[in-house]
Amino acid sequence: MNDKRISLTRYLVEHQREHSHIQPQLRLLIEVVARACKHIAISVNKGALGEVLGSADTENVQGEVQKKLDVIANEVLIEANEWGGHLAAMASEEMDSIHVVPHRYPQGEYLLLFDPLDGSSNIDVNVSIGTIFSVLRKVSNHRGVSEEDFLQPGKQQAAAGYCVYGPQTTLVLTFGDGVAMFTLDRETGSWVLTQDQVQIPADTKEFAINMSNMRHWADPVRRYIDECLAGKEGPRGKDFNMRWVASMVADVHRILTRGGVFLYPWDRREPNKPGKLRLMYEANPMAFLVEQAGGQATNGTQRIMDINPSALHERVSVMLGSKNEVQRVTDYHQAAT
Ligand code: AHG
Ligand code: MN
Ligand code: MN
Ligand code: MN
Repeated sequence: MNDKRISLTRYLVEHQREHSHIQPQLRLLIEVVARACKHIAISVNKGALGEVLGSADTENVQGEVQKKLDVIANEVLIEANEWGGHLAAMASEEMDSIHVVPHRYPQGEYLLLFDPLDGSSNIDVNVSIGTIFSVLRKVSNHRGVSEEDFLQPGKQQAAAGYCVYGPQTTLVLTFGDGVAMFTLDRETGSWVLTQDQVQIPADTKEFAINMSNMRHWADPVRRYIDECLAGKEGPRGKDFNMRWVASMVADVHRILTRGGVFLYPWDRREPNKPGKLRLMYEANPMAFLVEQAGGQATNGTQRIMDINPSALHERVSVMLGSKNEVQRVTDYHQAAT
């Protein structure tokens, strides 16, 4: 093996030596999740050849019709983590309630939350999709595990990451001391460190939002996007570009790679919901990664990772990416209150 290449295992062992907060159980957990993502990537890459496309004709707790790959990816992650001894319980976008692992041995101290397949609307059209995960410590010392154990603010995360199934299969991780990226070497089946200490530029000319919702946005979002669209002649004095993949993983990966701002704000379509994206297993892990890469992540009025959750599947308005742009759109929200 080319000794210049650093494998995920070597990275985790070296990281554990340097940072006492990375316990052996946490290292094992990340190795297990990384292996599960490899397994999911194999199913994703089969496409029409593997009976993985199309709808599962079932509905999840979000009220979404599940895709076959939503269900497959969820099962892969549950099965991979069930017997590792490192977890107390798991929670998933695709499961109504938590899944407590069988504890015929000392219970693990970690809680794993995941969006097993993010960007489901892109599965059948061969556009990048991904898996998002968040790791919390079980802080209560009572024997059992309940949903309440999961209701911790994002700043309590022990680790977070995602795997993007795109032209490359790339695993992106943080333990709170920077962001590292690992590319899957399909020939050897190993994850190879391809970027470390990722940094998001503070400024950008690229925004990501679903423009078809424009007529439903609140004024501060409308103001921010109108100014971007006004280009050089407008108050921003520069032209902007727009991207919207409709897979949060792909949009966030682009932002971690070259900067940008991602907005999925509250809108009038469902005024009683704070937003579309889920706090615990989409917004929090992505916010952790983005902040660790020097960016910002707010819900328009507060830091996403400061939000105290009240429900496992609660939703949130999301603005994240290049810190000066997120600050600007957040300032517009605060000026409007
Ligand atoms: P999921 O597929 O896990 O339900 O998440 C989809 C989310 C997110 O990935 C993406 O940014 C957003 O939905 C796209 O929403 P629109 O289709 O409304 O643009
Ligand atoms: Mn979904
Ligand atoms: Mn998602
Ligand atoms: Mn999903």
